[in-house]
Amino acid sequence: MSIYPIILTQSRFLHRDQLHYPFEERGLQFGDGIYEVIRIYQGNYYLLEEHVDRLFRSAEAIKLKLPYTKTELKELLVELMSRNNMSTDGKVYLQATRGSAPRDHIFPKDVLPNIYAYVQDLPRNIDSLKNGVKTITQRDERWENCYIKSLNLLPNVLAKQTAKENGCYEAILHKNGTVTECSSSNVYMVKDGKIYTHPATNHILHGCVRMAIEKFANDLSIPFIEEAFSVEDIGLADELFLSSSTSEITPITQVDHTEVNNGKPGNITRQIQTAYEKDANIHSAIEA
Ligand code: PDD
Repeated sequence: MSIYPIILTQSRFLHRDQLHYPFEERGLQFGDGIYEVIRIYQGNYYLLEEHVDRLFRSAEAIKLKLPYTKTELKELLVELMSRNNMSTDGKVYLQATRGSAPRDHIFPKDVLPNIYAYVQDLPRNIDSLKNGVKTITQRDERWENCYIKSLNLLPNVLAKQTAKENGCYEAILHKNGTVTECSSSNVYMVKDGKIYTHPATNHILHGCVRMAIEKFANDLSIPFIEEAFSVEDIGLADELFLSSSTSEITPITQVDHTEVNNGKPGNITRQIQTAYEKDANIHSAIEA
C-alpha cells in the first residue's frame, strides 16, 4: 500500500527519505513510545478528535510530554494530508517515542520525543465487511495496561500470526476464559438483541470505533452492555463482530471452526455497520 512522500516529524514536514534514526532510539530499543492509527475516507479523517484525545491519554500514562496542544496536532495532521494532496481512503500512522539517547532504562534528561506521522492508501476490505471473517481464540498474554496504545505489540503480533497460520483474520483473546478483545480490534457478542463487550478497563484498548458503536447502539435503541463474556458464551452467541479503525465493523462468522449464525453476518451487526457508514459518510459495503 503506497505511502505518500511527505511525512510529519515533530512539527516539520519532510520528504520520507530524509528521516533517519540513530541506533540508540528508545522506540527501537525499548518500545518506549505510543502510537495511533486513524482512518481516512476520501481525504478526511474519521474520529480524529477521539484519536488525538487517546494519544494524549497514552502519553500521560507513560509520562511522555508531547510538544503540542491537541489543536496544534490536529492542524498538523490535516496539513500532512493536504501537502500530500491525498483524497483517497487511507490511514495515518503516528508514533511518538521518548527520543534518541544512549541506551539506559532510566528516562534520559532533556531529550525531546521523536515523532513521525505518514499517510498511506488503504482501501476498505469489502469482502470481509460483506461476508465476515474467521477467528480463533487464544490466551491473552499481554500486560495489565492495555488501555495505553503502546508500541510494545509482541503478544499482539504473535497472536495475529497464529491466527493467520490457521487461516483466520483475527485472534479473540481471553484471560482465563474471559474474552477481552482481539489482537488489533475490539470484539462484541450479540445475544437476545443486546450487544455485549468487555468494559473499558485496563485490560483492553478503549477503541475509538468502540466509542462510536456505543453511540450508534444508543441511537438504534439496541442495549449496549459493558459486561465481559466468556469463550463458552461465544458458543451460544447469536452474532459476533469486531471493530477497529482499519477493519471498521467486521462480522465474525466462525470461531475455532464453529460457525456463528450459520456462517452469516447477523442483523444487528448489519445495523451497526450501516450506522458506521452513515456517520463516516461512506458508501455501503454490503451493496457494493
Ligand atoms: N488497532 N484493540 C487493539 C488491541 C487495537 O490494536 C486496536 C486498534 C483496537 C481498536 O481501536 P480503534 O477503534 O481506536 O482503531 C482495539 C490499530 C488499528 C492498529 O494497531 O493497527
